[in-house]
Amino acid sequence: MSVFNDAIASLLSPIRDLLEDEGVSEVMINGAHEVFVEKKGLVYKTENQFPSEDALISAMRAIAQSVGRVIDNDNPRLDARLPDGSRIHVVLPPMAKNGTTVAIRKFSKEKLTLNDLIAFGSVSKAAARFLDICIHLGKNIIVSGGTGSGKTTMLNVLGSRIPKTQRLLIIEDAAELQVKAEHVVNFETRKADPTRGVEEVTIRELVISAMRLRPDRIIVGEVRGEEALDLIQVMNTGHDGSMGTVHANNPIDACTRLETLCLMGDTKIPPDAVRKMVASAMQIIVQCSRYHDGGRRTSHISEILGIDKNGNYISRDIFRWVQTGKDPETGKYVGEMVPCNYVPTFFEDIVVNKLPFPKNQFISPEWYNDLKKQAA
Ligand SMILES: Nc1ncnc2c1ncn2[C@@H]1O[C@H](COP(=O)(O)OP(=O)(O)OP(=O)(O)O)[C@@H](O)[C@H]1O
Ligand SMILES: [Mg+2]
Repeated sequence: MSVFNDAIASLLSPIRDLLEDEGVSEVMINGAHEVFVEKKGLVYKTENQFPSEDALISAMRAIAQSVGRVIDNDNPRLDARLPDGSRIHVVLPPMAKNGTTVAIRKFSKEKLTLNDLIAFGSVSKAAARFLDICIHLGKNIIVSGGTGSGKTTMLNVLGSRIPKTQRLLIIEDAAELQVKAEHVVNFETRKADPTRGVEEVTIRELVISAMRLRPDRIIVGEVRGEEALDLIQVMNTGHDGSMGTVHANNPIDACTRLETLCLMGDTKIPPDAVRKMVASAMQIIVQCSRYHDGGRRTSHISEILGIDKNGNYISRDIFRWVQTGKDPETGKYVGEMVPCNYVPTFFEDIVVNKLPFPKNQFISPEWYNDLKKQAA
């Protein structure tokens, strides 16, 4: 709570314990009398309540004011980052039918590392080593996934593995990434504020600036607009090893989504050409998924090979997370990440660069082959 001044802290006292609880990653308020939290990936209803809708709105108004923003009838939505890095989104009634609706994604000081992801079973040791190799070789990587599936966390982890000698330019809507590297330049977009004559600065504009600032690699935190085209062009013009995240449910969808985003702007490039550009820019897709047991896992690591004669993207899974059962006591899924019997096209580069990744690491275990045969 130290992030808030005394006045706001007192307005937020109905949820103080939740904000202070390190185990809570997200607080969701659906009107004054309904507060849910997320803990270890699962959502629970709490006993916490605000005394009234007015009390809740006052708290949100004070938060908005503290970050130089306004939330009222004319501006019924607030998307803001708090001084400690937490993110807050608010929608007021009458749009929000339950009453003032809020989600606070708490900033966790302890960023997860690749070793943490291995320890959680989100990614296997072999797959983690493979991702390291992809980064070393400067493969373009898109992290794809649904809301809250762990995309930003994965991008942070991957970004922190980039060789120290390289210059990274990171562009985000709200600075969230904390890439641990020696030579990092961070950019954050700016929202327009007509009342103060402040003009918007978009991701797209910042990507263009980044290109002129001698980047080795460019990282776009979240690609969700026309900037997709700029990132694709960055990837296709020698800034190998660039990265970004995109909202999509599987690796092929990630390509399609990027293509759609590229076409959103006033581009004169024909759709067929855009598809080709996306296909050649994409090299590795890391798919993050949030499973029903609350676990966040890397469900696929796939290579994009281009487009086939019918114009469809070609994707090959290199690793997949495979569920093999369910723990009857905890309800947690049991499973592991397995190689998919596919040797990536750049295996020669792995060999030539003497990177430690023997070919047999791409071979599926017998049990997985059996499982596939049974399921066929
Ligand atoms: N592999 C993981 N295991 C457990 N928790 C994870 C894992 N990856 C991420 N998390 C946690 O899940 C939450 C959401 O992660 P993150 O912000 O990376 O998701 P996201 O996909 O970027 O979300 P959004 O769509 O809102 O941008 C965070 O609290 C993060 O610490
Ligand atoms: Mg994110």
